[in-house]
Amino acid sequence: SDIRPARSVRAAVLTAVGEPLRLTRIELPDPGPGQVRVRLAAAGVCHSDLSLSNGTLLAPVPAVLGHEGAGTVVSVGEGVTGVRPGQKVVLNWAPACGDCPFCRLEEPWLCANANAATTTPYARTEEGQELYPALTAAAFAEETVVPERAVLPLPEGVPLTDAALLGCAVLTGYGAIRHSAKVRPGESVAVLGIGGVGLAVLQSARLAGAGQIVAVDISEEKEELARAAGATDFVVASEATSKEVKRLTGGLGADVAVECAGRAETIRAAWSSTRRGGRVTVVGIGGKDQRVSFSALEIFLSARTLSGCVYGNCDPSRDLPELAEHVRAGRLDLSALVTGHIGLEDIPEAFEAMLAGRGGRALVVF
Ligand code: APR
Ligand code: ZN
Ligand code: ZN
Repeated sequence: SDIRPARSVRAAVLTAVGEPLRLTRIELPDPGPGQVRVRLAAAGVCHSDLSLSNGTLLAPVPAVLGHEGAGTVVSVGEGVTGVRPGQKVVLNWAPACGDCPFCRLEEPWLCANANAATTTPYARTEEGQELYPALTAAAFAEETVVPERAVLPLPEGVPLTDAALLGCAVLTGYGAIRHSAKVRPGESVAVLGIGGVGLAVLQSARLAGAGQIVAVDISEEKEELARAAGATDFVVASEATSKEVKRLTGGLGADVAVECAGRAETIRAAWSSTRRGGRVTVVGIGGKDQRVSFSALEIFLSARTLSGCVYGNCDPSRDLPELAEHVRAGRLDLSALVTGHIGLEDIPEAFEAMLAGRGGRALVVF
């Protein structure tokens, strides 16, 4: 097989916040010490890519976006021992350093150095402009160069294209249910925001043996996808969301709510949708201008727990093999999350669809 590195590769570049993505050829250097060059097979379009492009999330630019990817190792730099050319890998957009206070606490998803690679240019345009790798992975390109820690060997039996989803939506959604909310069999779960992440949360809730699973979205057309992913009920988001979730869960409210829209109003609705003593996990990434308010008295009286959740509170190197086992056994259906296979040039359209509440994951296929 041809695994020689390409001289230049096509990539989708964010030139500045608010600018349309620029599709261009970029020049990637050979991997340096500790680095790995990967030829992408596929990369999912995640809301966080849109958030980087519109400034809700900030990162050094100009940058190659894309952080949910899988592909094949093309070459490795000096000192790389964990992977070899030809190996199939999933990209990890938050590689843990193993050495900071959070890593020492065994909470690698909070690693203080997870974004270390994003502040150093890793490639350049053909005109010589330096480019940063957004969220380390820079997966909206035919090839990328990342630190060795940012590649996870793909376990056997998972198709490489679908495997891209494991890198963000599925690890995040699975972890939200398993590590953050710690859903137990029979519990009721409300999921607010049914994009790629919400769909992964729904499938993971089903996998965890949840009883009732209520999907909530502002877009009615998410119902079919939601039910296919395990939702037993669907609610069109409104002022009455929490009342409706309570009605559907026997009056008390859900045991667990997972917020996957990244908005103040959905965080508030998730909170109000749970029962007394309920658990709320916030997966969505909202802007810093989004404010949520709670009365002091209701915090006490409702005795709920509200948790933020980064990358599903996952240790990707531990959780990926576990996820792959569920995929192989048919308990997680990756392809069910995908509603479009697209090219790099179609990413702006995928952003539009996301804003309009259409479809599940769009997957860039190389
Ligand atoms: N109430 C309910 N659902 C809403 C609302 C609302 N007020 N506003 C938006 N939504 C829905 C959208 O219709 C869409 O289906 O939230 C969903 C969000 O899905 P995507 O845009 O596809 O986002 P996704 O990639 O799944 O990411 C979800 O997790 O990682 C973070 O940054 C990411 O905040 C984002 C969230
Ligand atoms: Zn993502
Ligand atoms: Zn660390």
